Amino acid sequence: MITNIKHIGVFTSGGDSPGMNAALFAIAKTAEVNKIKLSGFRKGYEGLIDGDLIDLETRELQKLVHRGGTFLKTARSARFLTKEGRQLALENLQKNNIDALIAIGGDGTFKGLLAFSEICDLPFIGIPGTIDNDLAGADFTLGFDSAVNTAIENIDKIRDTAEAHNRIFLIEVMGRDCGYIAINSGLGVGADAILVPESGQDFVRLLEKVNQYDSEEAFIVVVAEGDELGVEIAASKIKELNSKVDLRITKLGHVQRGGNPSASDRMLGIRLGVASVKALLDEKKNVMVGILNNKLSLTPFEQVVKQHQVNNELYELVKIFGK
Ligand code: F6P
Repeated sequence: MITNIKHIGVFTSGGDSPGMNAALFAIAKTAEVNKIKLSGFRKGYEGLIDGDLIDLETRELQKLVHRGGTFLKTARSARFLTKEGRQLALENLQKNNIDALIAIGGDGTFKGLLAFSEICDLPFIGIPGTIDNDLAGADFTLGFDSAVNTAIENIDKIRDTAEAHNRIFLIEVMGRDCGYIAINSGLGVGADAILVPESGQDFVRLLEKVNQYDSEEAFIVVVAEGDELGVEIAASKIKELNSKVDLRITKLGHVQRGGNPSASDRMLGIRLGVASVKALLDEKKNVMVGILNNKLSLTPFEQVVKQHQVNNELYELVKIFGK
């Protein structure tokens, strides 16, 4: 294929997510096959601003397909939010003869690219990389499946001790202001209740259930970190209702971001990595590649950054299993 693109820059940005290394490998392989030079900017937008770029070796990345985190490192960049930061990034792209950029990250990353496109005319392609699964244009974001598996593995362990003591456990999972991790892990562990930011009614149902709880078994509640009440307030309200319950809180935290990517995330990384380079070869720009309705698709960044809503079908499940 004849292309004007001779040199692609790639970076990972925002929270790391399992599968990012697989995507980097796939990008490197596809670039190599098409005889395109590939450079990696380290630490997300910070690397663009500082001109911190390295050559990427396909063989080296191949050995990291099974590893979590990101070989390129990542960051949340306050400097890129400024015009001065973006100007420095532009100068570095020009200095290094970069013809196109691929970014792996979440909505903050794509908002950054949109702002950058006001001064930089290069083609940008995004890959949805976040454990939160909160992007329009992708059925699943890279890392979500692994994070849910990690959450489930850990909540299963909590259930053992909860059963042993007949305790109520409130377990906070990540997801920022989106309830996908909570819904998928909560249903997967057979939770008694799931609290998500998208609903005002879930806590009412939980209190009704606590009222009937006979303290002779475990009672597992999975709470999305973005839930409007939060684990502490939810716990104190449960205690107000029944001061005798034995209750503990666990916040799973960043353990959900680490670990080897699941098979699905490895495959997703490979598919999206290849698709991102192909999109550039097809002269696409300012779009995110994603699997949507089980098909490869391209979604303009403007649409991606609009908040993704939790799917109604899934939310109906939360209601049924919360009764
Ligand atoms: O967006 C991914 C995510 O892990 C969210 O689920 C969480 O709210 C946030 O990042 C944590 O960010 P940080 O690692 O900067 O504390």
